Amino acid sequence: MFIEKSCIDEVDLAGKQVLVRVDFNVPLREGRVVDDERIRACLPTLRLLREQGCRLILASHLGRPRGKRVADLSLRPAAQRLAELLGCTVPLAPDCVGPQAEALAKKLGHGECLMLENLRFHPEEAANDRDFCRQLAALGEVYVNEAFSASHRRHASVAGIVEHVPLAVAGLLMRREIEALSQISLDPAKPYAAILGGAKVADKVSLVETLLLKVDRLIIGGAMAYPFLAARDISTGNSLLENHTVETARALLDKAGELEVPLHLPVDHRVVKDPKLHEPAMDTRSEAIADGYAAVDIGPRTEKLFADVLSNCRCVLWNGPLGFFEGGYVSGSRAVAEAVIASGAFSVAGGGDTAAVLHALDLAGKFSHLSTGGGASLEFLCGKTLPGIQALNDR
Ligand code: 3PG
Repeated sequence: MFIEKSCIDEVDLAGKQVLVRVDFNVPLREGRVVDDERIRACLPTLRLLREQGCRLILASHLGRPRGKRVADLSLRPAAQRLAELLGCTVPLAPDCVGPQAEALAKKLGHGECLMLENLRFHPEEAANDRDFCRQLAALGEVYVNEAFSASHRRHASVAGIVEHVPLAVAGLLMRREIEALSQISLDPAKPYAAILGGAKVADKVSLVETLLLKVDRLIIGGAMAYPFLAARDISTGNSLLENHTVETARALLDKAGELEVPLHLPVDHRVVKDPKLHEPAMDTRSEAIADGYAAVDIGPRTEKLFADVLSNCRCVLWNGPLGFFEGGYVSGSRAVAEAVIASGAFSVAGGGDTAAVLHALDLAGKFSHLSTGGGASLEFLCGKTLPGIQALNDR
């Protein structure tokens, strides 16, 4: 999938009122942004637009408030962080549509920015509601999609809006993501391995089937591994497990067998009684997790196994941490990141959490490309059409 549409540096946007869809779905702790990579990644676009005297209205989602106003999911911390990075004020509109947002947008001077409140406080965003699309579209003369990482969602602000704006173009980050990811989706160097971990298991499990047709080896760790272990009747104790994913995992294990693609799962784990207590973890020394314990990371034997599998790969895609990194359990992610780097493979890491771990470990710069997209980069690499990119191309 390519971007056929113009990018912001190919059109004259001087002085225009521009609605920029960004993805500031960033990790927060105590009201502050913990990892600002997704915000930084948009800076070249925002700076270029400001230099041209554009009046910027930024729209984003944060988390999954499911159509309700959730105070903890306000975009205020992201607006504050952006203001620090840009060195200007970035006020937050109390809503993303409606008279107050419109009035604040009208007051903007050239080069000024306004952040809209979380799009997902409205159920109409995820429903791709036409009226909501029109209301959002009314905020700008030009629409810029700079949210590659949200472009796999058929939501109003990335898909439906495009037909209601006079001009729709791609941002610089959007173009960079598509160019880098196309390198591995078109002709990956072999052996090609994918590593899947992290949460959002239900989203990813359905992509494994397509991935199995593309990769030479698949490594599954972190919360992604538990449905696969459960499907093999291995006890997962109190670990995070969405029961409805177990059947799919069972079918995927069969599929991997049919296709003769080696699928590697953890052979041991680091476990705790309560992940929220951040207590020191113990090794299970086996693939089974006892009742009363939850896995928070892969174990030392698994680290070694995964590193061996990666050692001679020429291309590696990594999506999702291998442990509960917010709790400080990063040993497995560190071991795997170091193995990928040592292999010298063309390496792409995708997703906000993966990027956050790599930044925390100071290893981000050693990957060939760090994609801001988690689900979006996976879907792109599986050859799926992303609604946000499709909408731009269709205009
Ligand atoms: C992401 O973090 O992958 C994007 O921001 C999309 O978020 P979502 O999975 O909640 O749609």
